[in-house]
Amino acid sequence: KDLALVAAGFSGGQGKSGVDAGPTALIEAGLAIQLRDHLRYNVHYDDKIHYCNDIVPDSDPDHRGMKNPQATSVVTQKLSSHIFSHAKEGRFVVTLGGDHSIAIGTISGTAKATRERLNRDMAVIWVDAHADINTPETSDSGNIHGMPLAFLTGLASEKGGKPFGWLNSEELRISTTKLVYIGLRDVDHGEKRLLRENGIAAFSMHDVDQYGIGKVMDMALAWIGNDTPIHLSFDIDALDPMWAPSTGTAVRRGLTLREGSFIAECVHDTGSLIAMDLVEVNPSLEQEGAEKTVEAAISIVRCALGETLL
Ligand code: ARG
Ligand code: MN
Ligand code: MN
Ligand code: MN
Repeated sequence: KDLALVAAGFSGGQGKSGVDAGPTALIEAGLAIQLRDHLRYNVHYDDKIHYCNDIVPDSDPDHRGMKNPQATSVVTQKLSSHIFSHAKEGRFVVTLGGDHSIAIGTISGTAKATRERLNRDMAVIWVDAHADINTPETSDSGNIHGMPLAFLTGLASEKGGKPFGWLNSEELRISTTKLVYIGLRDVDHGEKRLLRENGIAAFSMHDVDQYGIGKVMDMALAWIGNDTPIHLSFDIDALDPMWAPSTGTAVRRGLTLREGSFIAECVHDTGSLIAMDLVEVNPSLEQEGAEKTVEAAISIVRCALGETLL
C-alpha cells in the first residue's frame, strides 16, 4: 500500500502562530515510523515541511474581507497540484496541517485525481466543531480557515484572475450533496443558512448525544452510499478540549477521543477512503496539553489507516 505523507505547515488561514509547527510535532512523535512499521504502508515522505509562511507575498491586502487572500491562494493552489500528483498515482494521501484552509488544496487535488483515475465524484466527511463554509461575506473573522468549503463547493466563487479564481474549474470542486459533517457545535449564523438552503448533511453534537456515534456513522455513511471514494478532513478541534486542548479555536462539548477514533475506524472500514487531512494542531497553545493533543491526532490518523483493536 503506497501512502504519501505531506506536511503542510501553513498558518495564514487564521491569526495565531504555532499551527505551522503542527506537522513537525506529529512527525517527531513518530507518526511516519508508525505508519511504516506498525501499519505496513510504503510511506513516501520527503522529510520537509511545505507551504510555511515563506511563500507569503510582499503585499497581501484584504479582498472581500479575507485576510491573507493572496498567500492562502498561492499555497493552496500549489498544494492542490502536489496532492493531485500523488493521488493520481493511486497513493493514499495524508496531509498534516497547518490550519484548515489547506483543505482547499488537498480536497481540490484529490477530487481532480478521483475524476481522472476513477471517473467518479468524491465524497467528503468533515469532522469539526465548525462548518468552515463561510463565504467571505458571511464571515465575521475574515479568516480563510473558516471558508474552505465555500470555495470548494462553489458557494463563494470568484472571477478568474481574483485570488481563488483558479478554483473555477469544475474538476477541482465537490458537490454539496456529497459533503457530510460530524461533530458540529459552533456554526455561524450565515453558515446555518447555507447548510439549510443547500440541504447539506450535518450531524451535530446534538445528534451524537441523541443517537450515539454508532448510529450517526451508519447514517453518515448511508448518505454517501457504497463505493464512493471518500476524503476525510479531520479538524482536531472536533475533539473536546479535554482531549485536544492545543488548537486555535477550541470549543467545549466536543467528541471524546474514543468517538473520534470510532469515526476514523468506520471510515477506514468502508474500504473507500482515499485521503485524509489532520489539521489545526497548535503545540504552542495550552502547552501542558500539547503532548496529549499530538497523541490524540496520531491515534486518529492510525485508526483511519486501519489500526484494529483486536
Ligand atoms: N466560524 C469561525 C470563522 O469563520 C471559526 C472557524 C474555525 N475554523 C477552523 N478551521 N478551526 O472564523
Ligand atoms: Mn510529496
Ligand atoms: Mn474547527
Ligand atoms: Mn476546521
